[in-house]
Amino acid sequence: MKYGGKHFKPLPVVLVRGEDVYLWDVEGKRYLDFLAGFSTVNQGHCHPRLVKIMREQVGKLAHTSRAFYSEPHGALAEYLTKLLGWDKFLPMNTGVEAAETAVKVARRWGYRIKKIPSEQATVVFAKNNFWGRSIAALSASTDSNCYTDFGPYVPRFDKVPYNDLKALEEKFEQDPTICAYMMEPIQGEAGVVIPDDGYLKGVRDLCNKYNVLWIADEVQTGLCRTGKRLAVDHENQRPDILVLGKALSGGLYPVSGILADEQIIMCLETGSHGSTFGGSPLGNRVALEAVKILEEENLAENANKLGEVLRKELQKLPKDIAVEFRGRGLLAGLVINKDFAEGWDICLKLKEAGLLSRPAHGQILRISPPLTITKEQLQEGLHILTTVLKNYK
Ligand SMILES: Cc1ncc(COP(=O)(O)O)c(C=O)c1O
Repeated sequence: MKYGGKHFKPLPVVLVRGEDVYLWDVEGKRYLDFLAGFSTVNQGHCHPRLVKIMREQVGKLAHTSRAFYSEPHGALAEYLTKLLGWDKFLPMNTGVEAAETAVKVARRWGYRIKKIPSEQATVVFAKNNFWGRSIAALSASTDSNCYTDFGPYVPRFDKVPYNDLKALEEKFEQDPTICAYMMEPIQGEAGVVIPDDGYLKGVRDLCNKYNVLWIADEVQTGLCRTGKRLAVDHENQRPDILVLGKALSGGLYPVSGILADEQIIMCLETGSHGSTFGGSPLGNRVALEAVKILEEENLAENANKLGEVLRKELQKLPKDIAVEFRGRGLLAGLVINKDFAEGWDICLKLKEAGLLSRPAHGQILRISPPLTITKEQLQEGLHILTTVLKNYK
């Protein structure tokens, strides 16, 4: 507190250790983690396989830069492209860098392939998006907390309402300079906003019709969180550019990246993009193991199955406590009635009772435990949550 800024307001707990779905504070108190580092620790805290691989790689080769080839970089790219079904993988570090890479590639594609006149490429974003804190990300934001007093903003970023195909088509019809539409298949930070069935297919069809690239930001929804490998899999849709981050490395090292087909990614010629750490041997070795764990431990299936347990239990809560439950797999938000309590105050009580979470936008309690959670552990967490809510007043 004394030596840091105030741009974050953490819950008053100091954590020292994590193991699977549990965290411990400096006093030795154990908590069930219902946040998983904002959907980063899908594999559970300090997964033994991840820790082992990281130790091995750190003692062997940690960093080379992309001035040279390294074995883990190729291995991760091959594994991800084969698993997810795109031609190429471009590694970065954080979610915001991967999302910005997608925007850069899309602009390049706009000029080189779609033949948009110079300096006019427009990218459309869904309103209420969140993709990080860079100047580009906040230029795309409709949340005044994110963008106020950070201008001037990046030009030719346009916005449409989320889950509104009519508005999207109107935008595409009116503006031939649009190179891409970037959106989250479920809006995480906006409070787990799930679009209507058919929206993703509609986006795909409109992007095809108007020759616009569809960028799906799955930094939060990707890699088994919503009960499928990707959230776009719920409608069997394939975006042109897929953005991944967070769980890609299970929290041990920042690894993100984009997947796309050759014609798109090859718009970035040598020298047009890069990153000192992106594609590092250490990060990519950890990421490869992290994704293998998700696959081999069937964590999408677990998220799908336990997501239903979560839904059944939390939908029972009376409306004077929680006005709405939103969720898919183990990405869920419980909207606390404002007349009942502030989301922050509920989180403080939950902390006292041994469960950690955070509200989004004040009232939306995030529920996104590690995907390794068992039914018994989930029930333990739900018991804490419902008891705290029922005894709150
Ligand atoms: C959908 C989405 N995209 C991008 C980001 C940015 O990721 P990072 O904080 O790693 O830059 C986030 C972070 O929460 C996110 O939820």
